[in-house]
Amino acid sequence: MPERRIEYISVRMHHPAIREAPVFTLPEGFFSRNYRPGDEAEWAGIETSAGEFDSRDEARSHFDNEFAGREDELGERCYFIGCGARTMKDRAIADRPIGTAMGWYGDCDGSGVTGRIHWVGIRPEFQGRGLGRPLVSLAVECLKRFHKTAYLLTQTTSFRGVRIYLDFGFIPVITDEESKKGWRILAGILKYPPLEKYLQNTT
Ligand SMILES: CC(C)(COP(=O)(O)OP(=O)(O)OC[C@H]1O[C@@H](n2cnc3c(N)ncnc32)[C@H](O)[C@@H]1OP(=O)(O)O)[C@@H](O)C(=O)NCCC(=O)NCCS
Repeated sequence: MPERRIEYISVRMHHPAIREAPVFTLPEGFFSRNYRPGDEAEWAGIETSAGEFDSRDEARSHFDNEFAGREDELGERCYFIGCGARTMKDRAIADRPIGTAMGWYGDCDGSGVTGRIHWVGIRPEFQGRGLGRPLVSLAVECLKRFHKTAYLLTQTTSFRGVRIYLDFGFIPVITDEESKKGWRILAGILKYPPLEKYLQNTT
């Protein structure tokens, strides 16, 4: 379904026991690594290509505003995945990151700091290849080291991400009519029986 036809509604998900989340491993030929100083440009390129920003400059300035001075935490909590030169013939992209995700943290509702899945994105040409779950798994495994519970903020247009987060045990947070509408839209797109059942029982 073309994303532009989907009504954009912000939604939230919560994980009551992140340490019980499953693990997904990367397919052969792909590598993962932590953030290193200088990765800002790679991050901005990936997040812009994935549609999270309109330009690399906008992405870069967002990165600087949110993360400047937090390089040590990024080194622990920000991940990249990529494809090794042996499996990737396109030399421009071989050994370079093609996806990124963070196992970050925050206080989303004033009830205290918990883990947060943050800034998940894969370059479009690498989407749909089974990399989304292993990528999110890196961030989830990171959260397990620091937190017992977790949350994430997303939107109806990111339905692929939502489908993945459901597999890790994240559950919808429904606080008002708008979020209820958002989850109805997501259920209509994903057609995932456990989500439909959950919404029937809670709304
Ligand atoms: C989120 C993201 C990293 C997921 O990676 P991906 O490679 O696209 O993920 P997949 O193609 O494996 O799709 C994930 C699931 O979404 C579902 N899905 C994919 N396309 C779908 C469609 N057209 N309709 C309904 N469900 C669909 C499927 O269940 C799929 O998994 P499965 O095929 O193994 O069952 C990637 O889509 C991305 O970078 N998106 C843009 C940025 C973004 O939305 N980030 C998340 C913000 S919270």
